[in-house]
Amino acid sequence: MSIRLSITELSKVYPTGEGVKRFSLDIKNGELVTLLGPSGCGKSTVLRSVGGFIDPNEGSIQIDGTEVNHLPPEKRPSAMVFQSYNLWPHMTVFDNLAFSMKLKKVKKSQIIEKVNWALTLVQLQGYEKKYPTELSGGQQQRIALARALLLEPKVLLLDEPFSALDAKLRHELREELREIQAKQQLTMLFVTHDQEEALSISDRIVVMNKGNIEQVDSPQNIYNYPASMFVAQFIGKMNFLQGYANSEKISIHSLAYPNLTQYNGNVTVAVRPEDIVIVNDAEMGLDATIEKVMMLGHYAEVSLYTDYGKLKMFVERNEMSQFKVFDTIRIAFSTIQAFPEENTTHINELPKVQNPIKEENERYEKV
Ligand SMILES: Nc1ncnc2c1ncn2[C@@H]1O[C@H](COP(=O)(O)OP(=O)(O)OP(=O)(O)O)[C@@H](O)[C@H]1O
Ligand SMILES: [Mg+2]
Repeated sequence: MSIRLSITELSKVYPTGEGVKRFSLDIKNGELVTLLGPSGCGKSTVLRSVGGFIDPNEGSIQIDGTEVNHLPPEKRPSAMVFQSYNLWPHMTVFDNLAFSMKLKKVKKSQIIEKVNWALTLVQLQGYEKKYPTELSGGQQQRIALARALLLEPKVLLLDEPFSALDAKLRHELREELREIQAKQQLTMLFVTHDQEEALSISDRIVVMNKGNIEQVDSPQNIYNYPASMFVAQFIGKMNFLQGYANSEKISIHSLAYPNLTQYNGNVTVAVRPEDIVIVNDAEMGLDATIEKVMMLGHYAEVSLYTDYGKLKMFVERNEMSQFKVFDTIRIAFSTIQAFPEENTTHINELPKVQNPIKEENERYEKV
């Protein structure tokens, strides 16, 4: 698939020193990529630079191989949908949608046809004569989306378009957006600080922190294999424990896992609540006392006390009755992630010492 949008070494630093530093990202034709990160991490700065609303200090923005840095927003082959719908209040829905086509002197019959097409896409046929004030927030945002689609942008930019809506509507609209995007093969750069929204609609997610990229990957990989402590903490619920890594294994007290990392020494082990399992083996596992069981719909969150800290565990609704407060259970982890600490070294940095046990054995064999 060809590259539609290419952002290279984009920097925009505000007088306060905040902003975005050396941000690079390629988006393929027909791909939906989400910028995700906490408030102030630079998501809007990137999006607005692509749309032409901000002048970056450095870097290049190319759409279909052509640099657009010097072009004003209206001359760029991109369109932007903002958090506030930005509809013209004194114009009807039809006029809001027809505005740019009228400027371009498109034939009336064609304008009507196109407005109809866009309204069908956002499921608001028959709303032509209404004014924005007569529409709900969700409907206004649908019109704003329709208006952006009518520009037939090569890249559609959306900055937290659903954050002003209630949870149910947000849910509905993001599903609709994903359908429209797939049907129309749209290339989209979407901004949100809602991780569930990002995980549910994106082909790829860019996790940002303080103006830098922490990880770019599919939602699944971001969730299963967070590349840094920041991502592990930011995406989904996560437990953290102290572990110790050597060249073969990572140990968490009596539990041991193959060391798939290159770390050596103290590590922070991250475990998802759904990856905590009950074991019946007295030789293995950690003792945990049930502190609290909280029903959360189709699953329950069980809070556990252990000698190694408090942990949260998810259990299926139908298994919930087995978990009684103050009971002691034995737990293990079906999968773990490990992250380095300040003094953690790299396995390759270890001095090459002979294996003393092996040497001892060899000496015995020789005798
Ligand atoms: N015009 C500006 N002047 C000075 N600082 C700015 C300006 N715009 C943004 N910033 C700062 O730059 C950083 C990044 O801002 P940006 O708006 O890109 O963040 P964001 O990730 O979109 O946050 P949010 O989720 O709150 O919308 C923030 O710390 C912000 O305070
Ligand atoms: Mg923002």
